[in-house]
Amino acid sequence: MSDARQVVESGYDRIAQRYLEWSARIPDDPRRRFAAELTGRLDDGAPVLDLGCGAGVPSTAALAERHDVLGVDLSEAQLALARRNVPGARFRRGDMTGLSFPDGSFAAVTAFYSVLHVPREEQGALFAGIAAWLRPGGWFLAALGCSEANGVETSWLGAPMFFSSHSPAENRRLLEAAGFTLDVDETVTMQEPEGPATFHWVLGRR
Ligand SMILES: C[S@@+](CC[C@H](N)C(=O)[O-])C[C@H]1O[C@@H](n2cnc3c(N)ncnc32)[C@H](O)[C@@H]1O
Repeated sequence: MSDARQVVESGYDRIAQRYLEWSARIPDDPRRRFAAELTGRLDDGAPVLDLGCGAGVPSTAALAERHDVLGVDLSEAQLALARRNVPGARFRRGDMTGLSFPDGSFAAVTAFYSVLHVPREEQGALFAGIAAWLRPGGWFLAALGCSEANGVETSWLGAPMFFSSHSPAENRRLLEAAGFTLDVDETVTMQEPEGPATFHWVLGRR
């Protein structure tokens, strides 16, 4: 496993509970609005893959109310919380860049604030893999980074953490190259406890 992944895995193993409490203090996280954009396009019981599901709340839980959800995460501590928080979904430990599923397995793939922990030079290949796992016409919803970060922050919520992202223009280019047409393409700033943070929200159709 690469150094970046080890930093991310051991970081979330240490801060899983703290991350959950911290993220609940963000008053204007637009995740529910974008999740609703997705779920309004899906049938009841549709198979959905949630990449970097974390503790499963609030997003995996919201998806699992109406869909058949598989959550994947690198961190066992996150998965332990997710299994407790969302008994109606299935969970599996894994690296989102190393998963394999038969082509066309899912109606949707989601990634809420998780691709930004994958080295940016690997994100294009990840998007191509996601496109293959989706049925034709399937959807990919993600909150991507857009800060040009690329390296380890020595203390994020009390642990070292690796972040990596591209500009919105490069995110868009990589998604289109992977075969997605974007229905939603918005940069949104929200107030994290330490100050404003901006993410690139995309909802792409394969
Ligand atoms: C910022 S948290 C977001 C958690 C959850 N999606 C949410 O919105 O609250 C990022 C999550 O992605 C997971 N993650 C990071 N890199 C990953 C990878 N390569 N494969 C699978 N999970 C990963 C982390 O362990 C962490 O739980």
